[in-house]
Amino acid sequence: MAKKIKASKVSKRTRNPIRQIVDNLKVEPNKDKEFISLALGDPTTHGNLKIHQSCVDSVTKHLNSFKANGYGPSVGTLPAREAIAKKYSGGFANYVAKDIVIASGCSDALNLCIGALCDDTQNILIPRPGFSLYETLASSKGIECKFYNLLPDQQWMIDLKDLEAQIDSKTACILINNPSNPCGSVYPKSHLMDLIQIAIKYDLPVIADEIYADMVFEGHEFHALASLTDKVPILSCGGLAKKYLVPGWRVGWICIHDPTDVLSEIRDGIMNLSQLIIGSNSLIQAAVPDILATDESFNKENMKQLQGNAELCIELLQGCPGITVVKPQGAMYLMLKIEIEKFKDITDDVDFVEKLVQEQSVLCLPGQCFQCPEPFVRIVFSPPKEKIHESVSRIKEFCLNHLK
Ligand SMILES: Cc1ncc(COP(=O)(O)O)c(C=O)c1O
Repeated sequence: MAKKIKASKVSKRTRNPIRQIVDNLKVEPNKDKEFISLALGDPTTHGNLKIHQSCVDSVTKHLNSFKANGYGPSVGTLPAREAIAKKYSGGFANYVAKDIVIASGCSDALNLCIGALCDDTQNILIPRPGFSLYETLASSKGIECKFYNLLPDQQWMIDLKDLEAQIDSKTACILINNPSNPCGSVYPKSHLMDLIQIAIKYDLPVIADEIYADMVFEGHEFHALASLTDKVPILSCGGLAKKYLVPGWRVGWICIHDPTDVLSEIRDGIMNLSQLIIGSNSLIQAAVPDILATDESFNKENMKQLQGNAELCIELLQGCPGITVVKPQGAMYLMLKIEIEKFKDITDDVDFVEKLVQEQSVLCLPGQCFQCPEPFVRIVFSPPKEKIHESVSRIKEFCLNHLK
């Protein structure tokens, strides 16, 4: 028999915890009920949140120009970088084109940042619960992940004591995510200032995953971390995916905030790594200046719809035994706390999700996908109102059926 070919170490240690958990779920939906997924963080799935016509027009214009089909610079084209620099400058963050690197989505931007900042002898601090890609990217490179807790009883703010306690001589950087996936939290300015103090104390750079920038509910304000400090070096990662409702267009970016001029090697490192695949998409990049000029009322309207959906979830789950909702403040996610002891036959969050699919044909993601230490379930509230109404009512029915 022919010898089996071995896969590389890197490929073996590259794993996405979401896929590992979701692919192993024993999920056979109830055939009598329409299947509804509240699992996917893709705002385009149902068609209720629609891209702005001006973005379609701009891409069409550039497609027809035949001028946006070639290879561009690996860090992105000048007009796109200039537009991003202008749009995201504010407070202490004063970007020019050379501070911007365009990537293949925010995922690639994060990959470039982690790759440039961390060695395989070092560790990175990442949030728990948090977006699973952070761990995937870091462990793929052999970088140790240290998790700091977010506090569900305090609107998922960072447990700063816990974060500080994790820092050691091998810590390369802190990664934060604001607004948060999976928590739907939006950090107030004072909290970000406290985090900045820790970064100053330990002389650490911060990767700020701000892919949900500006996606906040009424009464909440988004503060870009870089806008608040003239001392801490920050790599802010963003992209078109969520706010402009085009995740498949794969344009993300890094804004390099270097107020004390310490990041010259990191700039070179990001530039080197960007040359691996030249991941920024030339056609969509050409449209970036127009896309970023979309009237802000577009985002406001979308956020109104998302806030309405979040409020509907909360209303429907009010008085639902065994469930506590941590009220979201933005993004498109909320976390339900499952009080396992109140249920007669549910062992953990994965079991909750499996039984919910089998009985009610509703799919959510278990908190374990996000390293959540307690039993939580994440709901995506971007689907249309009718689907939210139907699926969340079924979650309530499910809880009532399983109560002790
Ligand atoms: C917190 C967070 N960061 C980054 C990403 C990746 O964004 P992109 O699709 O632009 O790669 C996502 C996508 O869901 C996310 O939730």
